[in-house]
Amino acid sequence: METIFSGIQPSGIPTIGNYIGAMQQFVALQDDYNCYYCIVDEHAITVPQDRLKLRQQTLGLAALYLAVGLDPEKATIFIQSEVSAHAEAAWIVQCNTTIGELERMTQFKDKSQNNGRTGVSAALLTYPPLMVADIILYNANLVPVGEDQKQHLELTRDFVERFNNRYGTADQPILIKPEVKIPKHGARIMSLQEPTKKMSKSDTNAKGYISMLDEPAAIRKKIKSAVTDSSGKIEYDVENKPGISNLLTIFSAMTGESIATLAERYKDAGYGEFKTDLAEAIVAVLEPIQTRQKELLSSDELHEILDTGAEKANKVAKKTLQKMRNGVGLGRKG
Ligand code: AMP
Ligand code: TRP
Repeated sequence: METIFSGIQPSGIPTIGNYIGAMQQFVALQDDYNCYYCIVDEHAITVPQDRLKLRQQTLGLAALYLAVGLDPEKATIFIQSEVSAHAEAAWIVQCNTTIGELERMTQFKDKSQNNGRTGVSAALLTYPPLMVADIILYNANLVPVGEDQKQHLELTRDFVERFNNRYGTADQPILIKPEVKIPKHGARIMSLQEPTKKMSKSDTNAKGYISMLDEPAAIRKKIKSAVTDSSGKIEYDVENKPGISNLLTIFSAMTGESIATLAERYKDAGYGEFKTDLAEAIVAVLEPIQTRQKELLSSDELHEILDTGAEKANKVAKKTLQKMRNGVGLGRKG
């Protein structure tokens, strides 16, 4: 069975962008792959976080993983910082990655843009090596993510090739080279207010995103005020109608109906009717998830699942880390 690894940062409350781009794939893949789904709290601290809020969000995200339908019997669910091999492997990755490669990452460029060199943590630059470490430690073959992570996956593939060339032998590579898996639709859900910009949980304007924990009333309000255009026609045309196209993509992901089917059904409808139905479709998906998440957060079950997850993850990760240590010649043994 092939292996999957993916992660989400507990740096805020996940949005429907995270749900559509990442979580829906996580659930769909759990039956056919050996899956590791991680809450990457070490990635979250590359920018300042409130400690209590971070802990709350970490547990909240773990509960959401389960509430969306991940089954701990099928997938290993764990918290990154509870497996120390991640930080250790990331050091070895950094030692085999150039500053030039990291400075080219668009996410680094975006996040560091406004703060200059002095206001940005060194870890914002070395964040991709930690992500590389996450992936390689589990010998992942496939990594389901949204479009914005594609460049980090290319870096991972380049790293694996370099590491194997440097430290392995042709017939015995040390690390597995992963493939990226990006959904056909919904790989890049856009902001409701600026539909040419990615929907993000760290957006300062809360009207731009729908959080997975938003109340039905808030969801209806945000969809109602979502930016569209003046043509009044419901058509999928990303270039000329980014707002409506984004809403169609969200609608499709929430109902499982194709964009073409939805565009046909609403072709004679007004934006108002379309938005009302879309809001109800989102509420219908999120409400049961929210109820389940609340139950999980007040149970012992969640902690048991995370303990077992960390234990399983530690075992696998330690083995790969030892191979990496041997490869580069760290320590005395091996
Ligand atoms: P992050 O919130 O940055 O930890 O992202 C977690 C996962 O959600 C990654 O696989 C991202 O690619 C995916 N993701 C984040 N935002 C979006 C979005 N607006 N549309 C689609 N996927 C997204
Ligand atoms: N960097 C990813 C993001 O911001 C999260 C992440 C960390 C990740 N490690 C990973 C995703 C490993 C996939 C695999 O979305």
